[in-house]
Amino acid sequence: MEFSIKSGSPEKQRSGCVVVGVFEGRKPSASCQAIDAASKSAVTEVLRKGDLEGVLGKTLLLHNLPGVPADRILLVGLGREREFGEAAYRTAVSAAAKALKATGASDATVCLTDIPVKRRDTDWKVEHAVLAIMEGAYRFDRLKSKPPENKRSLRKVVLHVARRNEIAAGERAAERGMAIAEGVALAKDLGNLPGNHCTPTYLAEQAVELGKRHGIKVEVLEQKEIEKLGMGCFLAVARGSRQPPKLIVMEYHGGKRDAPPVALVGKGITFDTGGISIKPAGEMDEMKFDMCGAASVLGTMKAIATMRLPLNVVGVIPATENMPGGNAIKPGDVVTTMSGQTVEILNTDAEGRLILCDALTYVEKYKPAAVVNIATLTGAMVIALGHVATGLFANSDALARELIAAGENAWDRAWHMPLWDEYQDALKSNFADFPNIGSRAGGSITAACFLSRFTKAYPWAHLDIAGTAWKSGADKGATGRPVALLSHFLVRRAA
Ligand code: BES
Ligand code: MN
Ligand code: ZN
Repeated sequence: MEFSIKSGSPEKQRSGCVVVGVFEGRKPSASCQAIDAASKSAVTEVLRKGDLEGVLGKTLLLHNLPGVPADRILLVGLGREREFGEAAYRTAVSAAAKALKATGASDATVCLTDIPVKRRDTDWKVEHAVLAIMEGAYRFDRLKSKPPENKRSLRKVVLHVARRNEIAAGERAAERGMAIAEGVALAKDLGNLPGNHCTPTYLAEQAVELGKRHGIKVEVLEQKEIEKLGMGCFLAVARGSRQPPKLIVMEYHGGKRDAPPVALVGKGITFDTGGISIKPAGEMDEMKFDMCGAASVLGTMKAIATMRLPLNVVGVIPATENMPGGNAIKPGDVVTTMSGQTVEILNTDAEGRLILCDALTYVEKYKPAAVVNIATLTGAMVIALGHVATGLFANSDALARELIAAGENAWDRAWHMPLWDEYQDALKSNFADFPNIGSRAGGSITAACFLSRFTKAYPWAHLDIAGTAWKSGADKGATGRPVALLSHFLVRRAA
């Protein structure tokens, strides 16, 4: 997809489709008025007949408007003008993207970016238009035996801005949006690929590929080297699997030579059966998404390398399957972590924290400025926050605030959860330093408490994306979250 920015008369665009907005009460936006005037009130006529009231997200496609060279005009409901803020804007652009996909138009001029949005500037509008349109255009059909009947798909999009002097900033915003959107798409692709395709070895190969294309240094540590590092917990999880584990280490050098890096650590369980504490059969297929944390690290690395951000970032991914088997870990087993602390594994299904804890110790060697780990860690997170917000835990309030703000700007929101000392009491073991689970109460928090015992050396945040990394049901598929949040966080850090 190609995006460009234009100002000037929307009614004169020779385009497959011009997209304009209508507020509730059948009130046309400025660009819509221009088209209405050029077509001798043809739009007003349609609105008067009641075919579109302006309800947010409703669309209406018009053909052959007199006096207008575009093949089609797409009207998009914007809701109440007074309430037109960021949420409404995102809804309107997403609805437009969906409606555009249903047409045969291969190019479009979108005049939603020229409508004032409360508290947001043109940059923000352009970036989010790009993200929403790319979201609407995303498909995952590489595993179908025949490519789906290909209608002509959208290839070129012009985003219309109100004033000429907004074009340069708009172009930069479109580029940023595109870099992030491609990172999101990579994370979705990896997430959607099933466990028999997306193995730890495949993830490692993808990292190496990405590194070659974007000048990121990538090293893949094998079983032997992982043993040498003493990652007893990571290896304990990998024992049950026939697939060899991989520790993927990526270094992006965009900043000063010795500037401390930000480290991103992603949970890379390519399939989570639960191990000996095996999961029930229902929806177990969705545990192919248990590497979405890892996928978000790869997607974010791609985005920031495309943007050539001037800072240093390290991406670390412990990758393995969690399988039952004759060699698998058993409830009650005690293992020693790379940090030297011992863990009693009371439930083999709490495996994410077991692979992350060693990776979190590993990144200490970088003396990182901050560490963010991303993981589909707990079912309890879905109960707490549903599918809207990612759960955020941190040992630094400043870092937490940065990430929350990045999530707001990226429309990929996170919510700050408590990590108070009182919660640490849940982790008590008679046989090792601590167990890998607490009671059911506050399950996401005790998981975060477990990780916090390995992150004392640096400012650290943990994003539990169990509820946000993928969708279930008819729309089943990876969301690519939180690539946008992480990208914004790093854009801000680089500035
Ligand atoms: N990958 C799961 C978490 C998960 C489950 C995410 C369902 C999204 C939907 C994780 O490895 C896990 O199994 N966690 C257990 C922890 C429990 C045994 C303390 C869970 O949440 O049930
Ligand atoms: Mn599990
Ligand atoms: Zn898991």
